[in-house]
This record gives sequence, C-alpha cells and structure tokens, in this order.
Amino acid sequence: MNKSPQASIEELAELIRDHDYRYHVLDDPIIGDSQYDLLLQRLTELEASYPEFKKPNSPTQRVGMKSEAGFSEVRHQVTMLSLDNVFDEADFIAFDRRVRERLGADEIQYTAEPKLDGLALSIRYERGSLVQAATRGDGDSGENVTANVRTIRSIPLKLQGTNWPDVLEVRGEVILKTDAFNKMNSRLIAQGERPFVNPRNAASGSLRQLDPMIVKQRPLSFFAHGVGELSVSVGRTHSAVMNRIRDFGIPVNPGLIIGSKCAVQTEYKALLQRRDLLPYEIDGMVVKVNSLDDQKVLGFLAKAPRFATAWKFPAQEATTKVEGIDLQVGRTGTITPVARLKPVFVGGVTVSNATLHNFDEINRLDVRIGDQVMVRRAGDVIPQVVRVITEKRDSELQLTREPTSCPVCGSVLERSEGEAVIRCTGEFLCEAQKLERLKHFVSRKAMNIDGVGEKLLRLLVEQDLVSNPADLYRLTHETLVGLDRMAEKSAQNVIESIENSKNTTFARFLFALGIRDVGEVTAGLLTKAFPDLHLLMTATKESLLKVDDVGPVVAMRIIQFFSIVDHQHLISDLLGLGVSWPTEMIAGLAEKQVLKGQIWVITGTLEALRRDEASNQLRRLGATVSNSVSVKTNILVAGKKAGSKLAKAKSLGIKVINEAEFLEMIG
Ligand code: IVH
Repeated sequence: MNKSPQASIEELAELIRDHDYRYHVLDDPIIGDSQYDLLLQRLTELEASYPEFKKPNSPTQRVGMKSEAGFSEVRHQVTMLSLDNVFDEADFIAFDRRVRERLGADEIQYTAEPKLDGLALSIRYERGSLVQAATRGDGDSGENVTANVRTIRSIPLKLQGTNWPDVLEVRGEVILKTDAFNKMNSRLIAQGERPFVNPRNAASGSLRQLDPMIVKQRPLSFFAHGVGELSVSVGRTHSAVMNRIRDFGIPVNPGLIIGSKCAVQTEYKALLQRRDLLPYEIDGMVVKVNSLDDQKVLGFLAKAPRFATAWKFPAQEATTKVEGIDLQVGRTGTITPVARLKPVFVGGVTVSNATLHNFDEINRLDVRIGDQVMVRRAGDVIPQVVRVITEKRDSELQLTREPTSCPVCGSVLERSEGEAVIRCTGEFLCEAQKLERLKHFVSRKAMNIDGVGEKLLRLLVEQDLVSNPADLYRLTHETLVGLDRMAEKSAQNVIESIENSKNTTFARFLFALGIRDVGEVTAGLLTKAFPDLHLLMTATKESLLKVDDVGPVVAMRIIQFFSIVDHQHLISDLLGLGVSWPTEMIAGLAEKQVLKGQIWVITGTLEALRRDEASNQLRRLGATVSNSVSVKTNILVAGKKAGSKLAKAKSLGIKVINEAEFLEMIG
C-alpha cells in the first residue's frame, strides 16, 4: 500500500533528523554524504509538491532568508546571567566556604564542567520544535539569530524522544572548533581578508552574520550548559537536567563531573592538563552547586548567581609593546622577522618573542616598532601577534620596511616569484646560515650529536674552528680543552658523541645534509628508492619523480644540491672521516635485531674489514661483542693467525666461523 504524502514527508524528515543527530552530535554517521543529500533532496521535492505538509521544523528549513534590516530584539523571559570568577585555589576555597555557610552544610555536591570560550545562546523549543534562538545581549534582551542557528547542524530543529516540556529554553555556548577556526582563517587570509583574532570572535562574527548562507559555511558547534524558561521541571539537580536535555538530542558537553570540593580541585588540575588536547578552546572550569533547591536558596547577586563560579585558566591573549623587530636567518637563508616584546604573561608562560612569519604578514598586520599589540599563545603553538592596537599608536611610528640585504652577512636578499619568504643569497659565506646548517646537522633527527648544542657551535664557528659539518669530525680533544669553560670531562664527552655519530643511517645522513625541502620523511623515502648514495647523487629528474613525496621542485633541489662542487667535497670528506651506515639489507636485519641475546667474539686478523667495523655491524644486529671466550659465547669469528681464543672455543665446543662465512652471514 502506498503511503500518503503526509506520512512520507514525516517519515523522511524523521529519518534525516536521525542522521543529523548521528553525524553532528554522536559523531557516528551511518550513511555517506551523497546518500544524505539524496534523502534531503527527496524531502525537498515532496515538500514542494505538497507545501501544506511542510513544517517549519523540517530538516529542509535549515537555511532561511537573509534578514535585510539586521536582527530583531528578543526579550529573555529568564535573564541570562553571567558568572563570577575565581582565579586560584584560595578564591575557590572561599567560594566553597560562602556556599556552605549560606546553606548551613558541611559538604556540598558540585558539578564541574569546561568553560567553553564562545558566545552564549538561548534556544527556545515549544512543543518540541525550535521556535527561536537569541544571543545573550545585555542579559535581558538579545538578538534574534533564529535563521542562523537553524544552520547549525548539531542543534535539532525538533527534539528527540517524548515528554518534552511545552516550553523548553536551552542555554549554552556556540563555539567554533580549533580546526574549523584555523581553516577559516587560512581561507580568509588567502582571500586577502582580515582573519579573526580567536575562535570566540570567529564564532561570534559568524553567528551574527546577516546572511544565513554564509553562516552555513562556517561549521559552528553548540554545547548546552543549562536551561532558561521551562513550563515544567526537567530535573532536581543540574546534572539530571543536563542528562535529560541530552536525551532530547541536544549536544551536552561530555566533560561534566559531579563531586565534592576536593574532587573539583582535582578536576581543575586535570582539565588544565587536558586543555590543549581538546578540540575547542576553554578558558576555565565552571563549578555549580548541583542541587537546584540549594541553588534557589543561594539565589543571585546583581549579575551572577551565588551558586556558581567560573574558575579561570591563564589567559591566552595579552597586550604588550613591540620593542623591536629582529631578523632571523634560517638554515636555508630564509629571513624570519620576529617581534621582540616587552615580556608578558600569556597562555601560562612569559613570552618575550613572537614570530611575524614574513613581510607579507608584517604588511598585513602593519606592525611597527613601538606598537601595542595583542599576543596570543594557545596550546603549544608558538606565540603569535594577532592584531595591532592601532587606537594606541603613536603617530610618529615608522613603517616597517622590508630589508634588502642580509643582516648578518650583507648579501643581497631575494624573493622568488609568488613566495612570501625572502632569502639571503650568501649560503656558506653567511655566518648565520653556517650556524643554522651546523645546528641542523647535529640535531636529534639528523646526526644526533649529543652534547653539541647551539652554544658550543657558535663558539666553534666564531673561533674559526668549524665552518662546515666535516670540521666537526676533525676536532680533537686538545682543541676542545683549549676552549673557554670546557672541562676535561666534557671535552671527552663531546669527542665521544661525535665519534658515535659516525655510525648512522643513510636516511639520517641525507636529512642532515639539509637539502632544501628534503625533510625527515622525504629523506627516508629517497634512501629506500636509492639504496646507494652514488645512485642518488647521479639520479635523473625522471627517476626522482617516481619517489612518493618528490615533485618537480624537490627533484630540482636535489639535483642542484649534488651538482655543487662544495657539496660533493663535503660528502666525500664526511665519508673519508668515517661517517658510514649499513646497507639497506643490514638495516633490515638490524631492525629485526636478528642477533639479539647472542654473545660473539672476534679474534685474529680480518682482511675485508677492520675489527671495530665488524664489531659495530654485530652490535647493530643486536649481538653483544665480548673480548674473551667463555661458556656463554655463541659464536667465535676467527681471522688469520687466531691463537688461544680459537683453541679455547674449540675445547668448549663453541661454533667457530671464518671471515668469509662471517661476511656472508652479515651480508
Ligand atoms: S553557566 C547562571 N556553564 O561563560 C550561569 N556558562 O562568563 C550561566 N560559559 O555567560 C552560565 N561555558 O556564556 C555556564 N559550562 C558553562 C559555560 C558557561 C561557558 C559562558 C556563558 C556565560 C559565561 C560567563
């Protein structure tokens, strides 16, 4: 039997709602986007044919008409309050004491939840349908943003379940998740538009867009944190209320905990730790008395309730003065302007520098020395200058101009077509590039020369003891001990770690050379495709392009690098000084540690390789190399003129192999 159009429309709407909820609230979709679009299209068509059955809460009604005259005003039936703040544990303990005194209780049950850094929204449902959404405004009246809120896919237009109160006002926070914020800002910058300072401003700017089509492109999220007007109670505690509205299909923050004062204190520390891992920004933790009866007894102050408080986190933004703009010269000559700041406490640390990236960014921001700027440090991202407070600018401040010569070596700076970066053309002549190249060479993921840091390198470069990576392997104990503040023991350690670094892998070596655009991953892929250094040095563009990750630009950089005579000399010097790595096959065996747990002894004279090389190979494969034969010895490698060790091994019945057999075993 065919269903009536009305039943089809209702059923389809219900189905789409369910998919919306799975996708936007549960993060657990069960159909693909195209299937979803098809359902929506079918519903749109049906509604067009039978407009009499189309309801305002239909999933097709997420985008409304552009409002011409701005937003109308909405008076809140229940005032939208703000929160008082506490900034440290002592403040919080005082809050708890006041609450206990007023209630005459020994211990209070609280809830604690993340304080989302967005903007407050009140959403009104009548008989289960979304009828109105308004911003907080001054708390008594806000802006009618219903059309825009309808575009937020995680907010149901019709509530789930049954038994909703006739009137239910849900209150919560509209936010933009960090990922969405970064994407949106990159797009704005690419379009030559002004980016938003932080996710909260971006959320607020987006929600208050007059054109709902634009709002729809900005993936806003919503989390409820309370209720406003209610025709009937939905619970006796804050946590019960939140559970109830979650059952209605409304997104509720999963971070709510219930507990005593002590539990709240512990949660604060835990949340602060988790802060940077969350997909959105939070600026603190909200603590509420859980019992609604107790909340009523406690009542309100002028603007905020007595039963709740916001325990704030360190701010992620601060204003300070730009005291200078330094130019840093990188390993490949890139010039990075860095703002030297009057030290300021932001994001939990004292910040005295912030990168300005490049001169396009300086021009975009129009930063000048002497300006007051807003600095932002969120998560473990490096501090950024996000805005100049032009209102506070002294009219005399000089425009920041792009330099034309390298601040370190004076060479001409060049800017490639279409690139934002400028580069020093000095290469090896430039002391700064020299130092950066050396820093890169010794770094952990490159040659990993422990104990040789920036300070020592700077000293070595200044005293002309080292000017390229090969010089590191020419350093002697005596030279090092002669340096300022270098003790006997540390000199020894430095020499040892330089010595140890000679045993490396091809990929590390290649990465350490510092070819522009050849990072750790590309280096790894290249050495797999070209297991031999000489093959790589003579590779053609076509063969390089076959490697994943390598495009025409990288291929060109590799060919260029190896065509420079200085680089060829550097490589042969390094190899001549003893830098080496196992072949790919040995690398495979080494990875598997095929000789792990075995004890080997080498005796006599080897012909094809030195005794220490043989030992190193064995160690790479996981073996322990010992000097003396005992019952624990697994294998003895006997070279020419082997003597007492060979005799002892034979008497103990230990396996003995000659050099040829050994070479075959280790490939
Ligand atoms: S409860 C009567 N809970 O913070 C108490 N507010 O600084 C109403 N906020 O206007 C607020 N996360 O917009 C509450 N979990 C949370 C919150 C939260 C963010 C916002 C809210 C409020 C502002 C006060």
